[in-house]
Amino acid sequence: MTSFQPGTALITGASSGIGALYADRLAQGGYDLVLVARNVERLKALANDIRTRTGRAVEVFPADLNDAVSLAKVEAKLRQDAGITLLVNNAGSGTHTPLLDSDVEQMSRMIDLNVTALTRLTYAAAPGFVARGSGAIINISSIVAISPETLNGVYGGSKAFVLAFSQSLRHELADKGVRVQAVLPGATATDFWATGGLPVEHLPAEIVMRAEDLVDAALLGFERGEAVTIPSLHQVEEWNAYEAARHTMAPHLSSNTPAPRYRAAV
Ligand SMILES: NC(=O)c1ccc[n+]([C@@H]2O[C@H](COP(=O)([O-])OP(=O)(O)OC[C@H]3O[C@@H](n4cnc5c(N)ncnc54)[C@H](OP(=O)(O)O)[C@@H]3O)[C@@H](O)[C@H]2O)c1
Repeated sequence: MTSFQPGTALITGASSGIGALYADRLAQGGYDLVLVARNVERLKALANDIRTRTGRAVEVFPADLNDAVSLAKVEAKLRQDAGITLLVNNAGSGTHTPLLDSDVEQMSRMIDLNVTALTRLTYAAAPGFVARGSGAIINISSIVAISPETLNGVYGGSKAFVLAFSQSLRHELADKGVRVQAVLPGATATDFWATGGLPVEHLPAEIVMRAEDLVDAALLGFERGEAVTIPSLHQVEEWNAYEAARHTMAPHLSSNTPAPRYRAAV
């Protein structure tokens, strides 16, 4: 009798917060791991802890995804290691500062990490998954993808990209054995907030989820085959109505004539 082998999960941004919890939960679920982030000491400590508790194989893969050479090494790993069955695109950064108070170089680096690195890693992993007829990609977006007025607009735009990219990818890979899930966390208690300049303690406690709860809920959504998982949204009917409106509009969005409301008055 053959036992179920989940394979190896490569997780970006695994040194803290949501990524570290994905590492823990996926190892407990039987995955071996490749952990990617910049902070080697934190990655090593996490890897040792997970190896001790779960007995899984854990590889530490230090990389700055804002650095083209480091990013290329992670891409090569994804292309060459056929044991990798799951890519968790989690590394990301954000801020709450208004557009005009934000340094454009910092905004550009945010796009490089949240959008370009995520895209390149997906391009590196997906062809192998398609060729093998199995594999999965989990992309960590954010609720600001559909509420871009909430935080910094470049951050919201980058997460809207992650959502749209995931939806398109899922559509394209649906019959190829590759699963794609976008996760839209609400405010979650991690270093993300302090790094972005607003410690999480400054937010109302009733809107902040524990990272453990976020990841456990997101993985339940993954097991259920959800395309989009929003753990903090209690009224799923609201999301369903939003999606239904989008699908209703889709066939009507392109036309050879302007809508009557744009006809010049005579
Ligand atoms: N916390 C929230 O409220 C919230 C809400 C919605 C979405 N999210 C998203 O969730 C994801 C994880 O964030 P988190 O909340 O867990 O925050 P976090 O604790 O700050 O984790 C961010 C992770 O990304 C890594 N990272 C940052 N820059 C990197 C780079 N240039 N190269 C490689 N790795 C890099 C960090 O590790 P190193 O510093 O070691 O590189 C860290 O492991 C992000 O995509 C974020 O946008 C968070």
